[in-house]
Amino acid sequence: MKLLRVGIILGGMSSEKEVSLNSGRNVYDNLDSEKYEGIPVFMDGEGRLWIIPWQLVSQNTTTDITERLEKDARRISYEQLKDEIDFAFISLHGKYGDDGCIQGALELMGIPYTGPGVLASALGMDKSVQQKILGEAGIDVPESLVFGEDEWLQDEACVRKKITETFDLPFVVKPVREGSSVGVTIVRNMNMLEKGMSDALRWDRDVLVEEYLKGIEFSCIVLEREVGPYVLGVTEIHPQSDFYSYDDKYMPGRCSKFTPPKNISEDVVDRIKKDVIIAFKTLCFRSYGRIDGFVLENGRVLITDPNSSSGMAPSSFFFEQAAEAGMLPSMIVSELIDISVRVHRGKKGPL
Ligand SMILES: Nc1ncnc2c1ncn2[C@@H]1O[C@H](COP(=O)(O)OP(=O)(O)O)[C@@H](O)[C@H]1O
Ligand SMILES: [Mg+2]
Repeated sequence: MKLLRVGIILGGMSSEKEVSLNSGRNVYDNLDSEKYEGIPVFMDGEGRLWIIPWQLVSQNTTTDITERLEKDARRISYEQLKDEIDFAFISLHGKYGDDGCIQGALELMGIPYTGPGVLASALGMDKSVQQKILGEAGIDVPESLVFGEDEWLQDEACVRKKITETFDLPFVVKPVREGSSVGVTIVRNMNMLEKGMSDALRWDRDVLVEEYLKGIEFSCIVLEREVGPYVLGVTEIHPQSDFYSYDDKYMPGRCSKFTPPKNISEDVVDRIKKDVIIAFKTLCFRSYGRIDGFVLENGRVLITDPNSSSGMAPSSFFFEQAAEAGMLPSMIVSELIDISVRVHRGKKGPL
């Protein structure tokens, strides 16, 4: 039997390139070698593609890989990618990775890929637009305001006034388009606002200011099975920091997670699952996604962070929820590839 050539695209141009390397390495290690030939495709910091030997996948950082590209890897053009792989496993995260950019390029090349298409990926990235669309669909989302960089720089007093009129302390400041908690600040007193805004504006031209949610955070992997979108699991998250920070997400031993939830009642879990499915459909997600939110003390369920891709390190929600469902890492990776191949087979135009 001819093996499907699965290109695992990793690295990339976003703040999350190291997260991507960890995800891609783990996917590579868990590809079923009886069905797939894994081909690591490294995207460098300028968006160029390289076929890298498997030895380079074990490098510690994307910088280490980049230093060895000229000597050990093979540079390919985007057009050549379709001669090298039959399917793209997108292990990129963040800008240009799960925001519709690489998805559009793969559509042009006719290469099927994991995760949602161009529109849904772009929606998954934009925290402001996604809230408007989810709100329209009756999903509870946090109250928020958006400020552009120009507005803040030209009339800080006006921005401060709008914020204090709308929110009590604390409130949250974050880039409209980022991930992995990069640029997120919980503003606990107004002296923190300036630094919070500049941290967020380092990463994006627009800033989202959001009501602070005091409750339990959750995360759900959704798979588009033949019967429709299916919630693989609900994980309750207890970060060590005062919010679920970059370190809590990726440093070993930093954060407790419970799948299924320990402190969320069954009827609330059922409501979470219903809302997560509505969010998945409303944002036109396909193949899979990871949809996160909060449960407040009064039982309010909010969707705060629908993601068109998921981190795939060994202890990620993706593999943890699969394990709880009795699936080995290789089984869930195979299922995701099968799902993605199927949804691309049925499409009319871009996914
Ligand atoms: N409105 C909020 N209230 C309380 N905590 C929040 C809020 N928004 C974000 N956070 C905290 O910051 C983390 C990162 O924010 P999130 O919106 O999920 O962005 P990212 O795309 O970077 O994951 C969340 O996991 C949560 O712990
Ligand atoms: Mg998040």
